[in-house]
Amino acid sequence: MASHNIARDRFPEKILTWYDEHARELPWRSQGGERPDPYHVWLSEIMLQQTTVATVGPYFQKFLDQWPTVKHLALAPLDDVLTAWAGLGYYARARNLHKCAGVVWHNYGGQFPGSEDELLTLPGVGPYTAAAIAAIAFDEPAVVIDGNIERIICRVFQLEETLPAGRPVIKEHAATVTPKDRPGDYAQALMDIGSRICRPKKPACDRCPVTDLCHVSGQEIAEAYPKKAPKKVKPVKSAFVLWIENEKGEVLMRRRPEKGLLGGMMEFPSTDWTEGESQPSEVGQLKVELGLEADENVQAVAQEVVHTFTHFQLKLSPQIYQVAADQVRPSNQLQWIAPTGFGDIALPTLMNKVVKVVSKGQGSLPL
Ligand code: ADE
Repeated sequence: MASHNIARDRFPEKILTWYDEHARELPWRSQGGERPDPYHVWLSEIMLQQTTVATVGPYFQKFLDQWPTVKHLALAPLDDVLTAWAGLGYYARARNLHKCAGVVWHNYGGQFPGSEDELLTLPGVGPYTAAAIAAIAFDEPAVVIDGNIERIICRVFQLEETLPAGRPVIKEHAATVTPKDRPGDYAQALMDIGSRICRPKKPACDRCPVTDLCHVSGQEIAEAYPKKAPKKVKPVKSAFVLWIENEKGEVLMRRRPEKGLLGGMMEFPSTDWTEGESQPSEVGQLKVELGLEADENVQAVAQEVVHTFTHFQLKLSPQIYQVAADQVRPSNQLQWIAPTGFGDIALPTLMNKVVKVVSKGQGSLPL
């Protein structure tokens, strides 16, 4: 491994000594060296996925009051669980929580499995959560890696690996300092240090228990770790989009194919989204597809709309047409819709941008 070396045995020792004095008191943590209840650990870890410690506290308590064991939760109606979850977001997590409780109750007799591999097979339990439960609830020396721990490891070893591709190498380094003794306390200590000391910005290196082992401690470069991969330049696609209005002020809209980007959503018809300049001849072809004359005159144009999708950027040039309603035969795919009705049809953001620029240009349409 191309990295800076550190005194590996001293790392966990210092982390655990710090934890003995500075651990946060959190509702799901056990006191006085006792092992916490796996049900509590699992529940808290699921709730903490993408939600802050401060938000989770009251929910955790409410769930335990209502469902004190995994059996109670497994036998609860799903709707009750979803209601209690309201406010934590991502209902898929609540559904998986309920499903997982069912599996633990029915397949494991209400006892959570203790190995990382078996935990991984449970609904809603991914690699991070499986490792965290194995370490915290079962004292398994699992390598627990979340965003906070990743940051600490990259800084201590001054790893140049970039995220996300460098994750396996970061994990290899984390494994070399994970102790066999008290792995659960160790993981939670790193979580606490990551959120309170080794912060993304302005890390408090003077309060860090491993400051003397860390290769970037106290330096300005610390904030640059973990390194991020340079953003890829996205290809640029372009097209013409047609705003076709009839004598009643309604606008022609088309339903996108069910499969693919913005599947099944309504759009203003546009030429194919292709890389490079789009050709005006494509507009003639589109008009014919819609039932209009190919040489129908453009009334106006509006400012270009730019929208960034995950894999490309799109530039749409709006063209505005005034046509008689009876030129077009409406169907399931093709409909005249009044601008006052746009709010009812969940337009994609891209199409809302088109509404905005066209409305600005014409003044008579709603913003
Ligand atoms: N974030 C996720 N799990 C946590 C834990 N056990 N303690 C503190 N923060 C956490």
